[in-house]
Amino acid sequence: MLLDDIIRKDKKYFMNTFGDRTPVAFDYGIGMYLYSYDNTEYLDFLGGIAVSALGHSHPVLVDAITEQARKFIHCSSLYYIKSQADLAETICRSSCADKVFFSNSGAEANEGAIKLARLYHKKKGNDNKIEIITLKNSFHGRTLATLAATGQPKYKEPFSPLTPKFKSVPMNDLQALKEAINDNTCAIMIEPIQGESGVNPATYEYIKGVRSLCFAEDIILIVDEVQCGMGRTGKMYGYQHYDINPDIFTLAKALGGGFPMGAVCAQNFVAGAFEPGDHGSTFGGNPLACSAGLAVFRVFEEEKLIKNSEIMGMYIIGKLNALKMDYDEISEIRGKGLMIGIEFNNEIAVEVKDKLFEKNILTGTVKTSIIRLLPPLIVKKKHVDILIDALEEILDEITGEDS
Ligand SMILES: Cc1ncc(COP(=O)(O)O)c(C=O)c1O
Repeated sequence: MLLDDIIRKDKKYFMNTFGDRTPVAFDYGIGMYLYSYDNTEYLDFLGGIAVSALGHSHPVLVDAITEQARKFIHCSSLYYIKSQADLAETICRSSCADKVFFSNSGAEANEGAIKLARLYHKKKGNDNKIEIITLKNSFHGRTLATLAATGQPKYKEPFSPLTPKFKSVPMNDLQALKEAINDNTCAIMIEPIQGESGVNPATYEYIKGVRSLCFAEDIILIVDEVQCGMGRTGKMYGYQHYDINPDIFTLAKALGGGFPMGAVCAQNFVAGAFEPGDHGSTFGGNPLACSAGLAVFRVFEEEKLIKNSEIMGMYIIGKLNALKMDYDEISEIRGKGLMIGIEFNNEIAVEVKDKLFEKNILTGTVKTSIIRLLPPLIVKKKHVDILIDALEEILDEITGEDS
């Protein structure tokens, strides 16, 4: 059987960083569905972990990539690239950014943001302003600097010593942040809604307070939009829920609709710190990636996907809150738009996820008590209803109630 062969080969040749994966391999995808090699259909409520915003094999994205690949894939940023200039303009017009630099992943975008913030202060003559404050339970990537920024010991500890001069403080505690700031504070880096630790939104007052503190203390505010950006939360960018503008923000995941790419986006006053030779990337911003990014923005506009994210988010959260009334096992429903966490009172998340998988629905877990939903932004009510019915059956099964 093909799946067994894949698993055997994977176990033999692929480094075991993912452990025992969900036992399926997909052959192709269409819209909200992925199809395994034996042609079983799976409803995708994970979206490749907030990547596949347009769903699978969206014709506009496929055509854009195919057309560009037919012309040429790569040429180096030593030359001017039309799609790179167009996508940079598109991102700036959709946000508070004046300038953009393209990377290949979220971690790499965050590295770029950290470098830019440090260079900004250095070029102003503040050589000591190099400390970065982040939030506990945050996730910013797997490189040595972004692990240092990440506020979760389990990711960091095996790799110490990490890049120095990072510290993290509890989210939604402005006093703790004030106490952590000193003359050497360079930047504060935050996710408006923490994704990897289980969908934890920052409060409005907190983000407003962080913004004011950064203004008052000449500290760069970096917002990590890698997961919560690109329409995921019902607005184009997560920071837009808070009526603030970051100095720098980063994108990745859904930016290329599945094609790997990231971006460091900054306001002019800080973007100007990057001068020729200060930063670079062989692949970042290549014609193929940027064509994919442009296609994503085009589909967002044509199919009104941000509005759909907002409306479907309210629909799912409403349905989940109704389930919560019926099942004591559910302790909290959190999220905005289509970035949703279901927290259980006990450690049943993996069991629920596995049972959803048995019903051909893909979801994710955080720790052992949280299910995370990050569906493509094209999701419709009929898909949500399938998920909710399945969840209800599973909770009945787990609690031993009749359906
Ligand atoms: C908020 C956030 N920042 C950064 C990253 C790292 O992105 P990548 O895996 O593309 O390096 C992630 C990945 O999950 C993320 O959720």
